[in-house]
Amino acid sequence: MTPHLLDILRQLSHEEFRSGEEVARRLRISRASVHNAVHEAESLGLRVQAVRGRGYRLALPVTWLDLASFAPLLSACGVHSQRLDTLDSTNAHLMLLTQSGAPHKSLVVAEWQGKGRGRRGRIWLAGLGGGLMFSLLWRFNRPASELSGLSLVVGLGLAQVLRDLGLQGAAVKWPNDILVDGAKLAGVLIELAGDMLGPSAAVIGVGVNVLGAESLRGRVEQAVTDLSEHLPVCALDRNVLLQAGVLRLNDYLERFDSAGFAPFRQEWEALHAHQNQPVQVLTGLGERIAGQAVGVDEGGALLLATESGVQRFHSGEVSLRGGV
Ligand code: BTN
Repeated sequence: MTPHLLDILRQLSHEEFRSGEEVARRLRISRASVHNAVHEAESLGLRVQAVRGRGYRLALPVTWLDLASFAPLLSACGVHSQRLDTLDSTNAHLMLLTQSGAPHKSLVVAEWQGKGRGRRGRIWLAGLGGGLMFSLLWRFNRPASELSGLSLVVGLGLAQVLRDLGLQGAAVKWPNDILVDGAKLAGVLIELAGDMLGPSAAVIGVGVNVLGAESLRGRVEQAVTDLSEHLPVCALDRNVLLQAGVLRLNDYLERFDSAGFAPFRQEWEALHAHQNQPVQVLTGLGERIAGQAVGVDEGGALLLATESGVQRFHSGEVSLRGGV
């Protein structure tokens, strides 16, 4: 990303056109720089409408991340916020900081990731301005071997925040995706650092599709959706979402650290997208096991009622039986 790209884009809005000349004058740069910035933005997945005689307009109602708008309240809860324009991956960045002693509750949020990481070695795609991508470092009092329900708690906290913001259809898919009507809205990638026996640290990476899911369709293998397909424009401010999401995670993670997953089990099952439905589990060994998803146990393992009795899964992929 060229320096000043975001400064230039911040001069544009979704509501009205602004001429390249005016943007250039305000920032004391050349018109060619504005023109090049628009092309670069398009190459990073942000659509900009250009109309001769009128200028440029953002095709989507993007809100840019602004440290001053989310960091103060988070700081009151002990969260150390860092906002970056661009990096490879907020998880990769925070893992490095963790190894060099970053404090508990360090938060990294970025406008753009060059190599966003997804689960199972996949990549996480998000157009510039279209996704909310952050990673939160949590240093636990429990060893890593006792964090088995963590990913469910994170997915649950995020789904509850989205429901509070008006998205009543937000549901959790085991172990930690967030779905709306079967389409993926958000994903969580947890990477552990440190000792398996002593106190542990987890980098909790969250990606939420806010705008522009249509440009992801065909590029990812599953059905996807974004917040703009379910909520009014006024509810799409990524700063508000970030602040609300991290505050909720702060609350849920504190409870999880002291009491584990068991107190969240009922709440999780109430939001479970596949509760009591026929599903298939694809195991790490590539085996497909069909059954009925009857819930989760006290440690967050998926319970699948099969012909040979109830089986527990600690990892794997779930798909609707007969679906994808
Ligand atoms: C999944 O595959 O569903 C998990 C996606 C997690 C994506 C987020 S975006 C912010 C953080 N940084 C990354 O590189 N990945 C996670």
